[in-house]
Amino acid sequence: MKISIIGAGYVGLVTGACFSKLGFPVTCVDLNQETVKRINEGEAPFYEPGLAELLAGQVKAGLFSATVDLRQAAQYSGVTFVCVGTPMAGDRQIDLSFIIKAIDELSEALKDKKDYHLVVMKSTVVPGTTEKMAERLWEMTGKGAGQVGFCMNPEFLREGSALADFLSPDRIVIGQSDAKAGDYLASLYETMPAQVLRTNLRTAELIKYASNTFFAMLISYSNEMARLAECIGDIDVIEVLSGLILDRRISPAAGGSILSPGLAAYLKAGCGYGGSCFPKDTNALRELSTKGYDYNPLLLDAVIAINERQIYHTVSLLYKEMDPRGKEIAVLGVAFKPDTEDIRESPAIKMIDRLLAGGAKVRICDPRALGPARKHWGERPGVSYCEDPGEALKGAHGAILVTSWPQFTCLEPEDFLKNMATPLLIDGRGVYDREKFSRAMNFRVIGYRPGSKNPA
Ligand code: UDX
Ligand code: UDX
Repeated sequence: MKISIIGAGYVGLVTGACFSKLGFPVTCVDLNQETVKRINEGEAPFYEPGLAELLAGQVKAGLFSATVDLRQAAQYSGVTFVCVGTPMAGDRQIDLSFIIKAIDELSEALKDKKDYHLVVMKSTVVPGTTEKMAERLWEMTGKGAGQVGFCMNPEFLREGSALADFLSPDRIVIGQSDAKAGDYLASLYETMPAQVLRTNLRTAELIKYASNTFFAMLISYSNEMARLAECIGDIDVIEVLSGLILDRRISPAAGGSILSPGLAAYLKAGCGYGGSCFPKDTNALRELSTKGYDYNPLLLDAVIAINERQIYHTVSLLYKEMDPRGKEIAVLGVAFKPDTEDIRESPAIKMIDRLLAGGAKVRICDPRALGPARKHWGERPGVSYCEDPGEALKGAHGAILVTSWPQFTCLEPEDFLKNMATPLLIDGRGVYDREKFSRAMNFRVIGYRPGSKNPA
C-alpha cells in the first residue's frame, strides 16, 4: 500500500517517515521546493529529535521520497494524508485555505482514477470540516464514498517527542465516512499496540480539540492559582499544585507506590503556553462556537484570557523593579518550549515586543531557536542574539527565564551575579530554588511572593 502525504511540516513529515519505518512506501508532497530538495537529500528541514536520522535511513532505503507533484503522488498511492497547515487567521478563526487548496488539487488528481482511494484528514480542523471537504471532492470528481472514502485521524504529536508519540500512541482515533474507509485506515495501524477508537468524522475532529483545550486549561488553571498565591503572599503555587496532584483521583496508588500522571506536567504555573497548537486550537474552537453556533464558550474564553494576561504579567514583574527604558534585558529562551526550535506563538514573542515597546534593549538567548528568532525580528537596533547565557547576561540590567532549557535551569545565582550589571531575575517557569535565589539577588517568580505574615 503506497501512501502519499500532503504537507511536509511537523506533522506530515513525522507521519510519513514513521509510516515508511512501518514498511509502507511514502511520498511526501510539499509546495516548498527547498523542503522537497532537503528531504530527498535525506535531510530534515527542521529540528525534531530523531527525525533526521530516521529520514536519512528511509530515503536511502528507497521507502521515502518527496515531491512538489501532488497529482502524481496521489495517483500512485492508495491513501493520501492531508497534513497542511491550519494556522490562525487574523481574526483568530482557523485558516482552512490550505486544506481547501489541497482538496481541490486532490480532486483533479483523482478524477480519472479507477481504483478506490482513501483521503485521511490529519491536520487539525474544526468539527464539520472533513464532511464539507468530502462533499467538495465528491462533487468535483463525480465520485462517491464507494470510490473515494474519507477518514479523520487526528494527530497527538508533541514537538520534541513526535516520533515516540506516533510510534507508541496512546490511542488511534478514526473518524470515518463509512466502514470501508475506516477499515482501510485501521489496516495501516494494525501493527501498533494501541486502542483504536472508531467514530464519525466530526466526533474525531472534536476529540482533537478536546484534548488540546483540556491541557491548555490545566495550564491556565495553574496560572490562576499562581496569581492568587501572589496576591495573598507567602504561598508557593508549586506546593499548592503538589498538594492537589497527590489526590488519589489524580495520582492513584499502585503496588505501594504512587503513579505520577503525565497531566501533572501541565499543572505548572508559568508565563503561559504557546506553540502552533494550543493557542490556535483554543481560539479556533471559541470562534466556531460563537460565530458558528451562537454558543458562548465561557471556559474557553477564560483559558485564553488567563494565558494572554499571564504573558504580560511576567513582564510586569520586571517593570515593577525597573524602568526598562534604555536597559539591557536578557530573555532566556524564545522557543515555545524546550527541545524544539519552534517559536510559533511562543510567549517570548509578546514579551520581547512588550520590552522593545518599553524602550528596553533585548538580548535573545536560545540554544536552538535563534534562526527562527532572527527571521522574526531580523537585525534591528535594540535586538541582539546570543547562544551562550553568559554572553546574554554580561552587563544586563535584568533577565527573564522564558523557556526551561537545561542550559538555563542549571544556572546558579553566581552565574547571574558575576555577569549582570544589576542582578534582577524574573523566573517565568518556576525552575529556580526560591530561597537560594531570593537570598542571593533581586529575584521574582511566577506564583510566589514573600508576603506579610497576616494575609488580608
Ligand atoms: C499542521 C497544522 O498546522 C496543525 O493544525 C495540524 O495539527 C497538523 O498540520 P504543522 O505540521 O506544524 O501542523 O504545519 P506546518 O509546520 O505549517 O507544515 C505545513 C506544511 O505544509 C509546510 O511544509 C507547507 O509548505 C506545506 N503546505 C502548506 C503545502 O505543501 N501546501 C499547501 O498548500 C500549504
Ligand atoms: C500539543 C499537544 O500536547 C499534542 O498532543 C498535540 O498534538 C499538539 O499540541 P505541543 O504543542 O507540541 O503538543 O507541546 P506540549 O508539550 O503539549 O506543550 C504545549 C504547551 O504547554 C507549551 O507552550 C508548553 O510551554 C506548555 N507546557 C508543556 C507546559 O506548560 N508544561 C509542560 O510540562 C509541557
